[in-house]
Amino acid sequence: TKRIGILTSGGDCPGLNMAIRAVVCHATSAYGWEVLGIPYATQGLLERKAIALNLHGLDLHGIDPLLSMGGTILGSTNKGDTLARIDELDVSYRALGLDALIVIGGDGSLTILREVARKGGWNLVGIPKTIDNDVALTERAIGFDTAVNTVTDALTRLTYTAASHDRVMVVEVMGRTAGHLALNSGIAGGADAILIPEIPYSVPKLCQKLQELRDKWGRKFALVVVAEGAKTAEGALSCYTDSLGEVRLRGIGQYITEQIPACSSTPIETRLTILGHVQRGGIPSAGDRALAAAFGTAAVDLVAREQFDRMVAWQNGEVVSVPLEAVIAQSPALVDPNGCLVQTARDLGIYIGENE
Ligand code: F6P
Repeated sequence: TKRIGILTSGGDCPGLNMAIRAVVCHATSAYGWEVLGIPYATQGLLERKAIALNLHGLDLHGIDPLLSMGGTILGSTNKGDTLARIDELDVSYRALGLDALIVIGGDGSLTILREVARKGGWNLVGIPKTIDNDVALTERAIGFDTAVNTVTDALTRLTYTAASHDRVMVVEVMGRTAGHLALNSGIAGGADAILIPEIPYSVPKLCQKLQELRDKWGRKFALVVVAEGAKTAEGALSCYTDSLGEVRLRGIGQYITEQIPACSSTPIETRLTILGHVQRGGIPSAGDRALAAAFGTAAVDLVAREQFDRMVAWQNGEVVSVPLEAVIAQSPALVDPNGCLVQTARDLGIYIGENE
């Protein structure tokens, strides 16, 4: 028998609990292993905290709330001086008597924990999650589908109020380096412009597009989706340091919201919506649940086959596994400016920037 640990690391997203549930279910019922949940990722590991997870404990009178619960029951953190504390982490891993550790994380967490695992000789298996969908070598990561649906829903809601007041709605979405969320939800939600980190854009061209909508098509309202890491030719990004010392971006949505009226020949009224952490919350979509279930069970099978230092991934309609080394080397996976969805956006007449 084995004792395996599981933790969720980095920003949370919908579908994490479903993945935890799948790991516990498969590890206990198919293999008879013990599963320990490590709270708050490396923080819990350092403190040698572990919660015994079993199916009975996860159920509430036979109803399983984990199917539909957002966030992570284990808690998470995207902070900490993990690499400086490798030795301490190693002592904890051994003290907990773990035979393997399953890490549900984005590329940042997977990179750091792989480093720790390699130094300590731990048996590590990764499961990709992120609303940014920028983990390399997997077409899908847990959380992305739900976030796309959340943003699309917001855009649909904003359409009606925009149209009622003839306004341009600027919607700032998450995505510091990758624009997958903005691109997918922008197309699905009927955006007129989608500004993403991978394709620089020009404010005058954006305004020209909005003017054209009014002049040519009589469309007096518009939706502009901007990813938080989108870059203007004018370099309008400003940074600030938050209370935990993280450098953060500020102001791209505000900037666009101010520039559109300033740059237009006829009066245009704009409003800004910053969706923020709403995008990380909510009930996981059916797609994310099924993906999390497939990833969780496949991760357990990797442990059973002793195939470590690998990540489960979704490729061509099925779950495969890929070396973590390759994932890390190729992440973040950015939007291909010449890719299919960018072309789709252009074909729909959506303004998406200046790399044509
Ligand atoms: O990596 C996921 C993500 O949601 C990014 O899109 C966003 O910039 C960041 O997390 C925000 O993280 P935090 O939880 O630190 O505010």
